[in-house]
Amino acid sequence: MGRRLDTSILDPIRSKDEAHRARKLENIYHVGQDKIWDGRAVLAELQTTHGLEHLRGEKREAVAHVFSGLMWGELAAWKISAQLADRIDDLGAKMATTSQVHDEARHFYVLHDYLTALDGGPRPLDRGTRGLIETVLGAEALPQKIAGMQLFIESIALTMFKAVREAELCPVLSQILLLFERDEARHVGLGVQYLPMLMKDATKLDRVQLDAFQLRILMWALVGLKQNERHLAALGIDPRKVVLAGRRRMVETQQMLTQASGRHFKEIAGPAVMRLFDAARTLAFPESDRLPDRVVSAGRALLGIYA
Ligand SMILES: [Fe+2]
Ligand SMILES: [Fe+2]
Repeated sequence: MGRRLDTSILDPIRSKDEAHRARKLENIYHVGQDKIWDGRAVLAELQTTHGLEHLRGEKREAVAHVFSGLMWGELAAWKISAQLADRIDDLGAKMATTSQVHDEARHFYVLHDYLTALDGGPRPLDRGTRGLIETVLGAEALPQKIAGMQLFIESIALTMFKAVREAELCPVLSQILLLFERDEARHVGLGVQYLPMLMKDATKLDRVQLDAFQLRILMWALVGLKQNERHLAALGIDPRKVVLAGRRRMVETQQMLTQASGRHFKEIAGPAVMRLFDAARTLAFPESDRLPDRVVSAGRALLGIYA
């Protein structure tokens, strides 16, 4: 824990690109303030208008399970954004993460109150989701923490929120999720603006370490989705779509960092990491029921042979 107060936070910004990003980051804080919403009032009003009777039986059980995982994810997001707000010394990024802390606290209590009203309270945290969020919570390097939180966990949560909202399972939940998605989109924006600033002087080793870290996160995400497969199916969510959203995010992150570095060094770990992940996801969520087909698909993915 640093005891010294770093006063360089007001030092002039060096490049035009950084000044542009700094303004966008500060704006995330101000938009967060303009679009703030009272979770207690919104939930009470929606419950009075619609009630919670739309969700019954298997679907009710599935929502309780899946949204318990997401609620624990919100608690982790709250803690991780608080770690970032403390550690980051860039003014714009510090303002944006501070605003995120406030958003995530709201997301946590709203999901907790919803689950309590729906089904008597949240379920315990499953192993896969725990592995995913604790990997990011425990990351020391700032780029890993930001890639893990603002880019991966947020993207996975956004994909699930959208799928549940579009399935129109419960009007109370759908309306809440619309507000969650608006807030989470700002958090992704924070990662997109700040990660290239942090990584602009990254070495090859830094890039390899980040790629390896992203692989760990994606693998934990696979375990979490596998453990929740039955509940996701009951809600009509295809886990493969969620996995592919995470994969897309990884490809975008690699491209974004290569552009931001201004140097086109040859990717070392990126393609290998992607092949490993593709093989794992093919085995975890196979297209075919036949074992030989699964093994062949995984082998092709490992070798980088795509149909
Ligand atoms: Fe959140
Ligand atoms: Fe978030």
